[in-house]
Amino acid sequence: MTMAKLQILRYPDPRLHTVAKPVPRVDARIQQLVADMLESMYAADGVGLAATQVDVHERVIVIDTSDARDDPRVLINPEIVARSEEMTFADEGCLSVPLIYDKVARHASVTVRSLDRHGATQEFTAEGLLSICVQHEMDHLLGKVFVEYLSQLKRDRIKTKMLKKSREEERG
Ligand code: NI
Repeated sequence: MTMAKLQILRYPDPRLHTVAKPVPRVDARIQQLVADMLESMYAADGVGLAATQVDVHERVIVIDTSDARDDPRVLINPEIVARSEEMTFADEGCLSVPLIYDKVARHASVTVRSLDRHGATQEFTAEGLLSICVQHEMDHLLGKVFVEYLSQLKRDRIKTKMLKKSREEERG
Protein backbone atom coordinates (compact mmCIF):
# COMPACT_ATOMS: atom_id res chain seq x y z
CA MET A 1 0.00 0.00 0.00
CA THR A 2 1.42 3.39 -0.88
CA MET A 3 0.84 6.14 1.60
CA ALA A 4 0.13 9.74 0.85
CA LYS A 5 0.37 12.77 3.04
CA LEU A 6 -3.00 14.45 3.31
CA GLN A 7 -3.65 18.15 3.69
CA ILE A 8 -4.76 19.06 7.20
CA LEU A 9 -7.55 21.63 7.45
CA ARG A 10 -6.71 24.65 9.55
CA TYR A 11 -9.03 26.37 12.02
CA PRO A 12 -11.30 28.33 11.40
CA ASP A 13 -12.05 26.29 8.25
CA PRO A 14 -15.82 25.65 8.47
CA ARG A 15 -15.34 22.04 7.28
CA LEU A 16 -13.84 21.30 10.71
CA HIS A 17 -17.38 21.64 12.09
CA THR A 18 -18.79 18.78 10.02
CA VAL A 19 -20.22 15.87 12.03
CA ALA A 20 -18.65 12.58 10.87
CA LYS A 21 -20.74 9.57 9.88
CA PRO A 22 -20.09 6.00 11.06
CA VAL A 23 -17.89 3.85 8.83
CA PRO A 24 -20.17 1.27 7.21
CA ARG A 25 -17.44 -1.31 6.55
CA VAL A 26 -13.71 -1.51 7.23
CA ASP A 27 -12.59 -2.19 3.67
CA ALA A 28 -9.61 -1.31 1.46
CA ARG A 29 -10.81 2.28 1.14
CA ILE A 30 -10.79 2.76 4.93
CA GLN A 31 -7.45 0.96 5.28
CA GLN A 32 -5.95 3.35 2.74
CA LEU A 33 -7.42 6.30 4.65
CA VAL A 34 -5.91 4.95 7.89
CA ALA A 35 -2.48 4.51 6.26
CA ASP A 36 -2.60 8.05 4.86
CA MET A 37 -3.75 9.50 8.17
CA LEU A 38 -0.91 7.78 10.05
CA GLU A 39 1.60 9.06 7.49
CA SER A 40 0.19 12.58 7.84
CA MET A 41 0.13 12.49 11.65
CA TYR A 42 3.75 11.31 11.90
CA ALA A 43 4.90 13.79 9.26
CA ALA A 44 3.30 16.64 11.21
CA ASP A 45 4.69 15.33 14.52
CA GLY A 46 1.20 15.04 16.01
CA VAL A 47 -0.08 12.60 18.63
CA GLY A 48 -3.52 12.24 17.06
CA LEU A 49 -5.50 12.96 13.93
CA ALA A 50 -9.19 12.66 13.16
CA ALA A 51 -10.53 12.06 9.64
CA THR A 52 -12.46 15.33 9.95
CA GLN A 53 -9.13 17.18 9.88
CA VAL A 54 -8.30 15.76 6.45
CA ASP A 55 -11.79 16.58 5.17
CA VAL A 56 -13.09 13.01 5.33
CA HIS A 57 -16.25 12.98 7.41
CA GLU A 58 -16.29 9.43 8.72
CA ARG A 59 -15.59 8.21 12.24
CA VAL A 60 -11.88 7.35 11.98
CA ILE A 61 -9.11 8.39 14.40
CA VAL A 62 -5.40 7.60 14.57
CA ILE A 63 -3.37 8.16 17.73
CA ASP A 64 0.20 7.57 18.86
CA THR A 65 1.11 8.94 22.27
CA SER A 66 4.24 6.79 22.65
CA ASP A 67 7.61 8.50 23.05
CA ALA A 68 9.17 6.20 20.44
CA ARG A 69 6.38 6.98 17.93
CA ASP A 70 5.98 3.28 17.23
CA ASP A 71 2.62 2.46 18.84
CA PRO A 72 -0.12 3.55 16.43
CA ARG A 73 -3.72 3.08 17.53
CA VAL A 74 -6.55 3.11 15.03
CA LEU A 75 -10.08 3.79 16.28
CA ILE A 76 -12.96 3.32 13.87
CA ASN A 77 -16.48 4.18 15.03
CA PRO A 78 -15.23 4.90 18.57
CA GLU A 79 -17.66 5.19 21.48
CA ILE A 80 -16.81 6.12 25.06
CA VAL A 81 -18.42 3.46 27.25
CA ALA A 82 -17.14 4.71 30.63
CA ARG A 83 -15.57 7.90 31.92
CA SER A 84 -14.01 8.83 35.27
CA GLU A 85 -15.61 11.47 37.45
CA GLU A 86 -12.13 12.74 38.12
CA MET A 87 -11.11 15.44 35.68
CA THR A 88 -7.70 16.49 34.42
CA PHE A 89 -6.71 19.92 33.17
CA ALA A 90 -3.77 20.01 30.78
CA ASP A 91 -2.39 21.97 27.84
CA GLU A 92 -3.66 20.77 24.48
CA GLY A 93 -2.59 21.53 20.96
CA CYS A 94 -4.00 20.52 17.59
CA LEU A 95 -2.57 20.02 14.11
CA SER A 96 -5.47 22.16 12.83
CA VAL A 97 -4.50 25.03 15.17
CA PRO A 98 -0.70 25.13 14.85
CA LEU A 99 1.37 26.67 17.65
CA ILE A 100 -1.61 27.29 19.92
CA TYR A 101 -1.71 25.53 23.29
CA ASP A 102 -4.22 25.99 26.08
CA LYS A 103 -5.77 24.15 28.99
CA VAL A 104 -8.94 22.10 28.61
CA ALA A 105 -10.80 20.04 31.25
CA ARG A 106 -11.09 16.34 30.32
CA HIS A 107 -12.02 13.12 32.06
CA ALA A 108 -8.89 11.68 33.66
CA SER A 109 -9.72 8.28 32.21
CA VAL A 110 -12.10 6.95 29.57
CA THR A 111 -12.93 3.48 28.34
CA VAL A 112 -13.36 3.46 24.59
CA ARG A 113 -14.79 0.77 22.35
CA SER A 114 -14.17 0.83 18.61
CA LEU A 115 -13.18 -1.22 15.61
CA ASP A 116 -9.49 -1.57 14.81
CA ARG A 117 -7.95 -1.26 11.34
CA HIS A 118 -8.96 -4.86 10.55
CA GLY A 119 -12.56 -4.31 11.60
CA ALA A 120 -12.24 -6.22 14.89
CA THR A 121 -13.81 -4.83 18.06
CA GLN A 122 -11.34 -3.48 20.60
CA GLU A 123 -11.85 -1.86 23.98
CA PHE A 124 -9.31 -0.21 26.24
CA THR A 125 -9.15 2.20 29.15
CA ALA A 126 -7.04 5.25 28.52
CA GLU A 127 -5.38 7.44 31.12
CA GLY A 128 -3.09 10.45 31.04
CA LEU A 129 -2.20 11.83 27.62
CA LEU A 130 -3.94 8.96 25.83
CA SER A 131 -7.22 9.75 27.60
CA ILE A 132 -6.95 13.42 26.69
CA CYS A 133 -6.08 12.54 23.12
CA VAL A 134 -9.03 10.16 22.70
CA GLN A 135 -11.45 12.84 23.94
CA HIS A 136 -9.84 15.55 21.79
CA GLU A 137 -10.00 13.43 18.62
CA MET A 138 -13.55 12.25 19.31
CA ASP A 139 -14.57 15.90 19.61
CA HIS A 140 -13.22 16.43 16.07
CA LEU A 141 -15.61 13.74 14.80
CA LEU A 142 -18.45 15.79 16.30
CA GLY A 143 -17.20 18.91 14.54
CA LYS A 144 -15.64 20.41 17.65
CA VAL A 145 -12.16 21.94 17.86
CA PHE A 146 -10.53 22.30 21.31
CA VAL A 147 -10.37 26.10 21.09
CA GLU A 148 -14.17 26.09 21.38
CA TYR A 149 -13.69 25.29 25.09
CA LEU A 150 -11.80 28.56 25.53
CA SER A 151 -13.26 32.02 26.09
CA GLN A 152 -14.72 33.96 23.17
CA LEU A 153 -11.90 36.48 23.54
CA LYS A 154 -9.19 33.83 23.27
CA ARG A 155 -10.99 32.16 20.38
CA ASP A 156 -11.23 35.43 18.45
CA ARG A 157 -7.52 36.06 18.99
CA ILE A 158 -6.69 32.56 17.75
CA LYS A 159 -8.90 33.00 14.67
CA THR A 160 -7.17 36.27 13.80
CA LYS A 161 -3.75 34.67 14.29
CA MET A 162 -4.62 31.65 12.11
CA LEU A 163 -6.05 33.78 9.29
CA LYS A 164 -2.98 36.01 9.36
CA LYS A 165 -0.70 32.96 9.22
CA SER A 166 -2.61 31.55 6.24
CA ARG A 167 -2.38 34.87 4.39
CA GLU A 168 1.36 35.07 5.06
CA GLU A 169 1.84 31.55 3.75
CA GLU A 170 -0.13 32.35 0.60
CA ARG A 171 2.16 35.31 -0.05
CA GLY A 172 5.09 32.96 0.55
NI1 NI B 1 -7.00 18.31 17.06
